Amino acid sequence: MPTPANILIVDDLRENLLALEALIRKDDRVIYQACSGEEALTLMLEQEFALAILDVQMPGMSGLELAELMRGTDKTRGIPIVFVSAAAKELNYAFAGYESGAVDFLYKPLDAHAVRSKVSAFVQMYRQRQLLQQAEQELKRAVQMRDEFMSMVSHELRTPLNTLYLQAQLRRRIAAGAPLSPEKMQAMVERDEQQIRNILRLIDDMLDVSRLRQGTLAITPEPADLAVLVRRVVDSHAGQAAAAGSPVTLDSPASLPGVWDEFRIEQVVANLLTNAVRYGGGKPVQVQVQALPGQALVTVRDQGIGIAREDQDRIFGQFERAVDKQSAPGLGLGLYITRQIVQAHGGTIGVSSVPGQGSAFSVHLPLDARPAARA
Ligand SMILES: Nc1ncnc2c1ncn2[C@@H]1O[C@H](COP(=O)(O)OP(=O)(O)OP(=O)(O)O)[C@@H](O)[C@H]1O
Ligand SMILES: [Mg+2]
Repeated sequence: MPTPANILIVDDLRENLLALEALIRKDDRVIYQACSGEEALTLMLEQEFALAILDVQMPGMSGLELAELMRGTDKTRGIPIVFVSAAAKELNYAFAGYESGAVDFLYKPLDAHAVRSKVSAFVQMYRQRQLLQQAEQELKRAVQMRDEFMSMVSHELRTPLNTLYLQAQLRRRIAAGAPLSPEKMQAMVERDEQQIRNILRLIDDMLDVSRLRQGTLAITPEPADLAVLVRRVVDSHAGQAAAAGSPVTLDSPASLPGVWDEFRIEQVVANLLTNAVRYGGGKPVQVQVQALPGQALVTVRDQGIGIAREDQDRIFGQFERAVDKQSAPGLGLGLYITRQIVQAHGGTIGVSSVPGQGSAFSVHLPLDARPAARA
């Protein structure tokens, strides 16, 4: 149910207030009563109102005077007003200047049907305005997220491209005759390749996220060997891991056959391994592959910075990170994509971690990820 709409009714006669309230009372409304203009103003400054119903003839401040005062204050200027009057004539008073433009009239003796339908119309208008405001806020948030995203991506792309640019300048000097040993040349090409891989991975991640948004990240389960696949990923990350001071050990059976999307599961293991090295504090990383009844379990363990309890769920969301932007590169997409892939296989991923001591990410996969086999 939406938040209740507050309605203010103002009349100097208690019995009129009671009769009016009885007419317009509803579950989704809260009715406030005021016996004078002063009392009404106080309430209006404290609360947000969807509508004010003002008796025109009141001793002291009249309904029209109250409306004038409302017009003079930001907080009350936008509240729609319904004047209640005994005589049609006194309302010839021009009220064109009232900013909300929402001014209406009811005549005494009150006709129950007219009162109800008028009030309903105003409440509906109020709700629509609320929805619009909500939509506007969501839009603002989306635009802000897009801006942040663009600046993050630019930053992430800039770093490897900058390195490549420096390498290119070096090559220009070589072309101009500066000597370079074949070993140095080899190392240079490897660095280039690494930077290019980083850029490609970033772009692939972004493509995956937009596929996930559109629901088109499909998995194609086919016979595969998890043990072989994990070994391949570990081997291909060995150089990078060793350079970071985090040698990777693998504990796995020689073979663990099943039916999975090999390319996507490689991506899962690669993401977890990259994180373990990136956040592993330069300590060894362990990867374990186990066959359980009906399922396989892959665990990636590090002895690094760990993850606080309150962040352990959040990090699986888009762009969610538990470290600040400066301390480590990354967009915060890896675990989001990873979890989506694992779930598309009918599996689960979880983390257990003690801050300062390390983290262990566990992926459970059914041996056969085809939907028919799972059902
Ligand atoms: N092994 C880990 N140890 C400690 N913190 C981790 C570990 N893995 C992930 N995290 C935390 O979870 C956050 C989200 O991880 P995720 O892989 O989604 O993004 P990322 O590594 O920051 O960037 P990306 O993977 O997109 O390059 C990380 O920023 C980090 O704070
Ligand atoms: Mg990551």
